[in-house]
Amino acid sequence: MLGARAVERCDALGAAPYSDMPDGLYRGWLTPAYLAAQDRLGAWMTAAGMTVRRDAAANLIGRYDGTGDGPPLLIGSHLDSVRDGGRYDGPLGVMLAVECVAALHAAGRRLRFPIEVIAFGDEEGSRFPAAMLTSRAVAGTLGEVPALADAAGVTLAEALAAVDSAPERLTAMRHSGALAYLEAHIEQGPALEAEELALGVVTGIAAQLRYRLTLTGRAGHAGTTAMALRHDALAAAAEVVLAAERIAAAGPEDLVATVGTLAVHPGAANVIPGLATLSLDVRALDPGARDAAAAAILAEAGAIAARRGVGIASALINDLPASPCDPVLTDLLAASLESAGHPPRRMASGAGHDAMVMAALCPTAMLFIRCRGGVSHHPAEHVDPADADAALAVMLDFIERLDTHGRLA
Ligand code: GLV
Ligand code: MN
Ligand code: MN
Repeated sequence: MLGARAVERCDALGAAPYSDMPDGLYRGWLTPAYLAAQDRLGAWMTAAGMTVRRDAAANLIGRYDGTGDGPPLLIGSHLDSVRDGGRYDGPLGVMLAVECVAALHAAGRRLRFPIEVIAFGDEEGSRFPAAMLTSRAVAGTLGEVPALADAAGVTLAEALAAVDSAPERLTAMRHSGALAYLEAHIEQGPALEAEELALGVVTGIAAQLRYRLTLTGRAGHAGTTAMALRHDALAAAAEVVLAAERIAAAGPEDLVATVGTLAVHPGAANVIPGLATLSLDVRALDPGARDAAAAAILAEAGAIAARRGVGIASALINDLPASPCDPVLTDLLAASLESAGHPPRRMASGAGHDAMVMAALCPTAMLFIRCRGGVSHHPAEHVDPADADAALAVMLDFIERLDTHGRLA
């Protein structure tokens, strides 16, 4: 029942002091809640037989030595959450990784390779306006870190200084080499549940683009400025939101576009909005479809702004390429599913995962776990403990297969 314990541990981390909000879960990267969750996780890693360290990106890493000292198998996911999110998006993959090692340790089993359980920091990008900084640092693909600040004005440099690090240390990072990266994650969609399947094998992850759009109108008196004379930044933003929805809906099913944040300045009932800042997230399995849709939305946003006499600026925040999982590892994982009696359902991921970044460092594999109603990024996220048990058994079988597999081990 170690899989069920992984679910219990996610639940234990679902409230204060492991959450930064009082009535729900928000765990931003490097916040007090995040650091408290790391402390608790570190204790669980130690109890499972691992030695624990924190890297310069404040990722927590637990190491379980093998009989050889070659590159490790990395298993992990992320500890951070979206605002008012669920308890399992990210942490379940971390807790299942800990349980893999706990089971091996209890059985006195050492593999030919070391295992490193890695809990990443900001997969969601819900504190600073950038995502996957910590897995990009580990994969060595981060490059120069832009000057970022959170909503309260705390800079990334200040947040990193509190954990004795600095942006340039992230830039200089790269893992010394990994055998493979395995990530278990809730599906965050309804397909497995609809097909009455507990588990699925991920074939690849959709390409993502994220922009920040700034619309600059003219603030003015809400009671005295005639409608024809206004340059309302929020009204322009509203049209942009609907244009994004319309353009994405006209494309292939996996093409999606979302405006998830909107800030209005000065934000008063009796002032015409002078400034609106919004996020735009565009994804598709085919990078060409993604890029074409993003270009169309930006062109339409430019036309809307011009028609309304509003200024517009766009900044690219994230460009994550589509990331196919490794075919050899995917087949091994599918074999593990089959041998445990699960149909090896293969599926693509529309959600982003640290695995898509880690693919630059090593071959990757991902296991999806059914979640109730496909609900995610919402407090109602729910996982059946029996499904987590099933996932753990498959992960352990996969690790054994990797140990005997000639090409990788
Ligand atoms: C993370 O959950 C993402 O897909 O943005
Ligand atoms: Mn996630
Ligand atoms: Mn998420």
